[in-house]
Amino acid sequence: MSNYIHGSEPEEQVRLSKLNELINSRCLQLLEIYPGEHILDVGSGLGQFTIAMAEKVGENGKCLGIERDKNQLKSSLENLEKQHKPWVEFRQGNAENIELHQHEWGTFHLAHARFILEHVKQPESVVVGMAKAVRPGGRVVLEDDDHQQMFLHPEPAGFPAIWQAYIRSYDRLGNDPFIGRRLVSILHQCGLRNIRNNVVFFGDSAESPTFQAYVSNLIGILLGAKELMIKHSLIDDKTFTEAILNLQRWGQQPNSALWYTINWAEGTKN
Ligand SMILES: C[S@@+](CC[C@H](N)C(=O)[O-])C[C@H]1O[C@@H](n2cnc3c(N)ncnc32)[C@H](O)[C@@H]1O
Repeated sequence: MSNYIHGSEPEEQVRLSKLNELINSRCLQLLEIYPGEHILDVGSGLGQFTIAMAEKVGENGKCLGIERDKNQLKSSLENLEKQHKPWVEFRQGNAENIELHQHEWGTFHLAHARFILEHVKQPESVVVGMAKAVRPGGRVVLEDDDHQQMFLHPEPAGFPAIWQAYIRSYDRLGNDPFIGRRLVSILHQCGLRNIRNNVVFFGDSAESPTFQAYVSNLIGILLGAKELMIKHSLIDDKTFTEAILNLQRWGQQPNSALWYTINWAEGTKN
């Protein structure tokens, strides 16, 4: 089984939901989805982005989200209930061993995965399944983190230590905190071609109305991983607490900027 660092407790679901609100329109723009397309969304979380893609494909299309965690799946079904979109479906499943009905293999126009490869031990096994799911000419799109790309300026005291500890907690779980830089090579390894790459801006600055949401997201992921970081002696309690306090203060400064990008890559099945 993979180890998922963030979990699915109610607080974490609120964080993930707000993160979706921050980035979904930018991610959607890059995807170029057309009405009538069939889309597979792997590791669909709360289903918000799956449902956003479903709006683009419309009632003649289809969107299928696959999610392993029962809490996330329950929330995505609740989100869907409010939507009246019978062309969307969520199923429980493991991204590393995608299971589809026999007649569904090789039929999707697009297989998409965002923030999932960073949480599995064998990212290639996810992409092999995605490649198998799409039709010839279909696309596989991967969006994921490369945690080395995070810059805060002016840098709050203690941030390098806490961020490094957070990064190291990924490999303690057997996952790759730098998976973002590998997306093109994973697509290539899995047989996809015409590969192109891009980034989605995931930063903000103090005077922007959304800045506090970015700061909360950052503090939220660090607090969520605290137990793991301490357990693996990646940071001590005092250093962690001070770094969070400094980050909170930094979030109130008028000149603060957060620079981060999500790595994005697309390949086509021959
Ligand atoms: C950071 S969330 C991203 C969710 C969604 N893709 C998004 O961008 O909002 C990662 C999701 O992947 C799920 N997940 C982790 N490992 C998985 C696996 N092996 N199979 C399926 N889902 C998995 C987690 O439960 C979580 O809901």
